[in-house]
Amino acid sequence: MKLPLPPLPAALKPKPKRPDEVERVKPIEQVKEAGIASVDWLDERTSLGQPTRWIMFRKVPKGTNWFYTLGSATLFAFLSQAVTGVFLAMYYDPSITNAYESARHITNDVFLGEFVRGMHKWGSTLMVILVCLHMARVFFFGAYKYPRELNWVIGVVLLILTFVMAFTGYLLPFDQRSYWATIVGVNINGTGPLAGPFLSDFLRGGAEFGATTLSRFYAIHMLLLPGAIIALIGAHLYLVTKLGTTAPPWLKAEGEEGLREERV
Ligand code: HEM
Repeated sequence: MKLPLPPLPAALKPKPKRPDEVERVKPIEQVKEAGIASVDWLDERTSLGQPTRWIMFRKVPKGTNWFYTLGSATLFAFLSQAVTGVFLAMYYDPSITNAYESARHITNDVFLGEFVRGMHKWGSTLMVILVCLHMARVFFFGAYKYPRELNWVIGVVLLILTFVMAFTGYLLPFDQRSYWATIVGVNINGTGPLAGPFLSDFLRGGAEFGATTLSRFYAIHMLLLPGAIIALIGAHLYLVTKLGTTAPPWLKAEGEEGLREERV
C-alpha cells in the first residue's frame, strides 16, 4: 500500500504563475527541440526516417559476440584506405619517370605525408587480414548456409577484389621491390590455365612491362576496384540487414524452439 505524501509547507510550494509570465525553457531542452525539429524537417522532405529505422533497429540473435565485429572492422579498414588514398592521390604521379619521386616526396616533404602513406600501407595489410578473419568467422559459424548463400558469393568476389587491390597498389611506389614483385606476380597469373596469358597481357597492357602497365594498375587501383567494392559492400550490407545475422552454432544445440524466437 502506498502512503500519501505529507503536505508541503507553504514556503516550498511552487508559486502560482503571474498572468504575463512566459514559461522558461531550459537551454538543453531548446537544443533537443532544435535537433528533433531538424530531423523532422529532413524526414518530411525525404521520407528517410523509415529506412533508417529499418537499418538501425534490428533484432540481434542471442549469443552475438566480438567475432561479429570483424565485418564492420573490415568495412572500417576499407573506409580508412579510401580516405588516405584520396590524400595520396593528390600528390602521386603515375608516370614511370615521376612515380618513385612523387612517392618519395610524399614521405619526406609533404606535411603528415609519411603518416598518411604509412596508414595506407599498413591499412592494406590489416584489411587483408580482417577480411580473411571475417570470412573464417562466417565459415565456422555456418553463416554461409541458406538463405545467405548469395551473400557468401558476394563476399568471395569482395575477397578477390581486396587481394587485387593490394596487388595493384604494390606496384605504385615504383621502387625496385615493387617493380620486380609485380613482374613475378603478373608472370604467376600468366601460368593460369586458358585465361592466364590473356590476364597477364591485360595487366601489362601489352606484351611488355612498361608505362602503360603503371597507369593501368593505377586506374584499376583507384577507380575500377573502389567503385566495384563500394557497390558490392552496399549489396552485402543490404542482405545482412534484410536477413539478419546468424545465431552462433552452439545455440542450435539448445533446441530449435528457443532459437526460432531469437532469429529475425
Ligand atoms: C570488403 C570486405 C567485406 C566487408 C566490408 C564485409 C562486411 C560485413 C558486415 C559488416 C557484416 C555484418 C556483421 C558481421 O557478421 O560481421 C557481414 C556479414 C557477412 N559477410 Fe561480410 N564483409 C566482407 C567480406 C566478406 C567475405 C570475404 C565473405 C565470405 C566469403 C563474407 C560473407 C559474409 C556473410 C555470409 C555474412 C552474413 C553473416 C551472418 O549472417 O552471420 N563477407 N559482412
